[in-house]
This record gives sequence, C-alpha cells and structure tokens, in this order.
Amino acid sequence: MILEGKVAIVTASAGAGIGRATVSMLAREGADVVVSDTHEQRAQALAGEIQKETGRKALAIPCDVRDKKQVEDLAARTLDQLGRIDILVNNAGINKLAPVHEMDDETWDLVININLRGTFYCCRAVLPTMIAQKSGAIVNLSSVAGWLGGATESHYCAAKAGIVAFTKSLANEVSRQGIRVNAIAPGLIYNEFLARIYPKEELDKISDQTPLGRVGEPDDIAKTILYLVSDQSSFVVGETVCVSGGLYMH
Ligand SMILES: NC(=O)c1ccc[n+]([C@@H]2O[C@H](COP(=O)([O-])OP(=O)(O)OC[C@H]3O[C@@H](n4cnc5c(N)ncnc54)[C@H](O)[C@@H]3O)[C@@H](O)[C@H]2O)c1
Repeated sequence: MILEGKVAIVTASAGAGIGRATVSMLAREGADVVVSDTHEQRAQALAGEIQKETGRKALAIPCDVRDKKQVEDLAARTLDQLGRIDILVNNAGINKLAPVHEMDDETWDLVININLRGTFYCCRAVLPTMIAQKSGAIVNLSSVAGWLGGATESHYCAAKAGIVAFTKSLANEVSRQGIRVNAIAPGLIYNEFLARIYPKEELDKISDQTPLGRVGEPDDIAKTILYLVSDQSSFVVGETVCVSGGLYMH
C-alpha cells in the first residue's frame, strides 16, 4: 500500500485502456481516487467497482478536459469531497488520422486540444492545491509517436512531443515546491481503438518487431505510472519514460 492517504485524479479513466488500469491500480495501492471521463455512466460504474473491490473512496466526476470550466470544477469537487489532491494523471488523449493536406481545422483542434490543452488545463487547476500542500506528483501521457512522428498523425505527434517539453518546463517551475512532474511515452498498448485501426495480422507483425515480442497491456503502463507517482521515484523529475517493450529505445 504505497499510496495510503493520497488522493489521485485520473482523466479519461472510464474507458477500457490505460486510464482505467491506472485508476484501479492507484486505488489498490491505497489512494482515494477520482474516475473522471466524458462518459459519466461508465465513470460511475467503475467508481462503484473500485470502491467495492478496494474499500477506498472513489468518486466519478464527469469532465471534458477541453472545457476550462469543467476542469476547474473537477479540481474543486475533488478538494471539497476528498480534502486534498496529491496525484494527477493526465491520461486524456485521442487520435484521428488524416494527412496534413486533407486535415481540416476541426480535426487539428480536436486532437491538439484534448492531448495538449487538456493537459495544461488540468495541471493549472490542481497546482494551487499542490503548491499549498508543498507536495504532489503529476504524470502526463506522451507517446513514442512524439519522438518518431507518423504519417497521418502530425497533430497527435506534435501534441505528444509538446507534452515532453511542457513536462520539463513545468518540472522546472514547481519542483522546489515539492511537486514532481514526469511523463510516460507508451509504445503500442492494446485497446479497443487500436483493434479498430490495426487488423490482427498487423498487430502480430508489429509485435514481431518488438524485442519483447508482444504489444503492451494497459497494466504495463499503469505499473510505471504507479512508480512515477510514488516515492519510489523520488529523484525522477521532468523525465519522459519510454515504456514500449523495446519498440522504441529512447
Ligand atoms: N493505447 C496506445 O497504444 C497508446 C500509445 C501511446 C500513447 N497513448 C496515450 O495514452 C492515453 C490513454 O490511451 P488509451 O488508448 O489507453 O485510452 P483510454 O482507454 O485510457 O482512454 C479512453 C477514454 O478517454 C475518454 N475521453 C475521450 N475524450 C475525452 C475528453 N475530451 N476528455 C476526457 N475524457 C475523454 C473516453 O470517454 C474514454 O473513456 C492517451 O493519452 C493516449 O494518447 C496510448
């Protein structure tokens, strides 16, 4: 129980991927958690499951990370109902493939705003509390795509590279106030979205190219996030940790 007494917010955590695995793992390690997502019903169902399984407090708070007001409300309600904010995991991120010459403004804005602006909004909303507490840990979700780039995902790759620089910048600003900020860059992690865009044979091919010989599972990422938000990583600051089974070696 390495997170006993801590309060954690995980954005976009009611899906079937990294967010869900992370919020569940943080609760199993003793944190009270906020399951936040645009999908309120799924968030409520998961919060109920977590509470039952772990005995920890688990709140469901709906929030679209693009909406400043909803993000401020997320931080305010967490503080009001759970009394503190120790951990923020900025998990919200989506991709919508389009080549640059065919990309409309809406697609560009959608991907940049969820991945990058949402990360900024959530950090800004929780920082006054963490600064007052003189402690906190933030983990931002980047991607190996932020280093590699990728055809038809220029907006996504730009946002994920932006998260690397944002993470270093914020770490420079707040480390002396007891707040550690890091990022994680997953490789291919199996989820519903991935299953929709890559046929099974394609995934098998990618797995073959990975030194570990498999695509990742959401828990592979959740475990590293747990490390980054806990005291086990007390001297790790401003890093983007690559977790890709060796698909990309940073
Ligand atoms: N899955 C991968 O292979 C992979 C690889 C590299 C990076 N990542 C990053 O990891 C993070 C999690 O990815 P995942 O695929 O596991 O997804 P996930 O299942 O953790 O998240 C999906 C959830 O996001 C929610 N959501 C969508 N738009 C939102 C918004 N505007 N505000 C709040 N919530 C919103 C959805 O309702 C859904 O529940 C993302 O930032 C993604 O870019 C994933």
